[in-house]
Amino acid sequence: MLHDLQILEDPGSSPGQALDAPKVAAEETPGARRVYLETYGCQMNVSDSEIVAAVLREGGFGLTRDPEAADVVLLNTCAIRDNAEQKVRHRLDFFRARKRKRDEDLKIGVLGCMAERLRHKLLEEEHLVDIVVGPDAYRDLPRLLHETDDTGQAAVNVQLSREETYADIAPVRYDTNGVAAFVSIMRGCDNMCAFCVVPFTRGRERSRPATSILAECAQLVDQGYKEITVLGQNVNSYRHTHDGASVDFAELLYRISLLSPGLRIRYSTSHPKDCSDALLHVHRERPNVCNYIHLPVQHGNTDVLQRMRRTYTRDEYLALVDRARSICPGISLSTDIIAGFCGETEDEHRDTLSLLARVRYDHAFMFMYSERPETYAARKYTDDVPLAVKKRRLSEIIALQTRISLENNQQEIGRIHTVLVEGPSRRSDAQLCGRTDSNKMTVFDRQDFEKGQYVRVRITGCTSATLLGEAVV
Ligand code: 5AD
Ligand code: SF4
Repeated sequence: MLHDLQILEDPGSSPGQALDAPKVAAEETPGARRVYLETYGCQMNVSDSEIVAAVLREGGFGLTRDPEAADVVLLNTCAIRDNAEQKVRHRLDFFRARKRKRDEDLKIGVLGCMAERLRHKLLEEEHLVDIVVGPDAYRDLPRLLHETDDTGQAAVNVQLSREETYADIAPVRYDTNGVAAFVSIMRGCDNMCAFCVVPFTRGRERSRPATSILAECAQLVDQGYKEITVLGQNVNSYRHTHDGASVDFAELLYRISLLSPGLRIRYSTSHPKDCSDALLHVHRERPNVCNYIHLPVQHGNTDVLQRMRRTYTRDEYLALVDRARSICPGISLSTDIIAGFCGETEDEHRDTLSLLARVRYDHAFMFMYSERPETYAARKYTDDVPLAVKKRRLSEIIALQTRISLENNQQEIGRIHTVLVEGPSRRSDAQLCGRTDSNKMTVFDRQDFEKGQYVRVRITGCTSATLLGEAVV
């Protein structure tokens, strides 16, 4: 079933990574003022937009999927790399032009990760927007919208919080398939990796109460959802204490997995330093906790990891991979890689290639280093790897990983996987697509199967990104 709100699917979406395609959150509800909401960035931002939609609805605003019909345009933004910000700036220019030329009452707002950093620029220097709202201030949105209406002035709230988790707000779901949903379990990040702007844009780490997470998951099960991805910047440092009792991530995952045997559970994204044996044992013991971990390594060289302030060495990371594979045989791993970090030598770059060859991930999200203001790297190091070298190194990384992904997928041919059907494949209505337990997108002939069903599929072919198969009846 297609939900009221719509998200433009990006099947390449990484757990914690910025996406290229914006997603449009909107539903056709009548309301005094109509809001068009566009989401950039990671799954966390998609989940945040579901909170924003709920706050707006509660505040008496309508939502529209047509920007032309909107009185208010809100962009939920991403700041992780410079190109993500550039995309939002172009989009702002587009809406500004409309406001200037033919729609002077149009209100334009920037939400999320770009808000805090760019508020002065957006408001004072460039007079680009009417409201600016940071990721911890979404409850204030209706008030801010009224304020800018009343005063004609820009309205701002970029206050970061140590407590806000939006635990009591029921998100308005706008995923397209009604099968898989995101549940946010924590916000912010305390890790301060040298390259990363997230601790500055999203503030300190805080965990949402376990009871409210479990209640939301139980409700999703009741509504017929079959897969939940729990989200946070670093989910495996989740910990919430209530009445002296403390729940950590392994325990939380275990409790979610008990809600229904028909529910699959995934999570994203995690830091290797917090991947405990207890967590690996939950993967092993609970059949519905997927046999898949996204375990961002970022780099294959210990000196670079130290410069990145990742707090583990290459060998410690490799030992963790071995432990994960011995506790959970066949576990699928994916990762994030950054090419061309400050001071990266050719030898250090080759260590990333050799790590990829050693681990043989099923999938990787690979980026060129992009300096972000305020970060430790921006303050202490020089972004000294020339762009052409960064590009060449990244393309070597991508070429190697694509070959490994293809070879791993070729190993699947002849095996049978249980696929949760998400809907028709992108190419043809005669085919369905869904993921294996190990998170591999699989396409097979529709026959009489339906969205939301688990189907046993024999793998008959593959590309580096997709498995092809036939249902086993
Ligand atoms: N430049 C390039 N990639 C980055 N990431 C985070 N910050 C940067 C940056 N400044 C990548 C990391 C992280 C993923 C979400 O985005 O690989 O895991
Ligand atoms: Fe950024 Fe590191 Fe936190 Fe991930 S763990 S959000 S890379 S600071």
